[in-house]
Amino acid sequence: MSSNIHRVLVTGDAGFIGSHIVDQLLENGYVVGVLDNLATGDLGNLTENRDNLVLHQGDISNRDFVREAVKGYDAVIHEAALVSVARSVEDPFVTNSTNVTGTLNVLKAAVDARVSRFVYASSSSVYGETDVLPKREDLPARPLSPYAVSKLAAENYCVAFARVYDLRTICLRYFNVFGPRQRFGPYSGVIPIFIGRIGNGQPPKIYGDGEQTRDFTYVSDVVEANLLAMTADVKPVEVFNIAAGKTCTINQLAGVIAQIMGREDLEPVHLSERRGDVKNSYADISKAVRWLGYVPRTTLHDGLKKVVAWFESNPIQTRSSATT
Ligand code: UD1
Repeated sequence: MSSNIHRVLVTGDAGFIGSHIVDQLLENGYVVGVLDNLATGDLGNLTENRDNLVLHQGDISNRDFVREAVKGYDAVIHEAALVSVARSVEDPFVTNSTNVTGTLNVLKAAVDARVSRFVYASSSSVYGETDVLPKREDLPARPLSPYAVSKLAAENYCVAFARVYDLRTICLRYFNVFGPRQRFGPYSGVIPIFIGRIGNGQPPKIYGDGEQTRDFTYVSDVVEANLLAMTADVKPVEVFNIAAGKTCTINQLAGVIAQIMGREDLEPVHLSERRGDVKNSYADISKAVRWLGYVPRTTLHDGLKKVVAWFESNPIQTRSSATT
């Protein structure tokens, strides 16, 4: 445990990534605050070991509630967001309000509470299409979707807050995170959607030719990155890619999942390209390796095996995905 950080507030903690971060923080002996509106999170995701856990149930869009909740914490890990490119295309206002105004509320509350470290869950989507691959942090951001704009705007707020209020902020640009507890539904990531469809005997639907690439990152690697970012001795404001640093096409992904699930007979169906989609996403992770000591440990294949096993033991999670 870092000497000056004992109490950590995680926003969006009952959801997918947040709940894994909470588990690890508790295991490492921190007192952990959970700030979640439980709209997409589920208390069942939180660990059984709740002795050092404090629940602040409410919404990050409520500034007064957030200001009170953040008081007394040494660090904030801000995961709460509306996560989906597709949803942001349908309703950019709600994405903006949660992801931008919500982040602003948490940042200002963190300044008022004098927290010593603020870690922000940013996204690979901020890059949009780049001329070079793999994507490095110093490349210009060219967001292609309202979701990507919201993540970049919130990131810029983190940078500005570091400058004008001396809040130490670290932005982690996650690349397509996957793992157990990832949600199902029309707005979930491609991996649970494919597992849900194949599990229900339906072929995966691929948007476009399926040759778009992604750098899929296992959730425990993202958890480790957050703990490193919370304690690392780095400049007062920094941005890091957090990824596996490997690339895979959506066609290959569908093939691997079908093979793990023993349903290679289910030939994918191709639909038109999705609006706002980035063609290629592949991270240069050398900055995080050098400055945070970050090392991705779980390969895509091993991660997929764990996720398939998890979804098979939680079958209720797959029902709603059958039509997505
Ligand atoms: C984007 C971000 C990612 C972020 C996520 C949040 C990029 C490169 N990545 O993910 O960092 O965490 O938003 O939502 O911007 N697809 C199918 N069939 C399906 C579902 C998806 O073919 O049934 C395709 C999509 O068209 C896309 C790929 O799979 O090309 C990945 O989609 P998805 O899992 O939704 O994530 P991104 O939009 O890449």
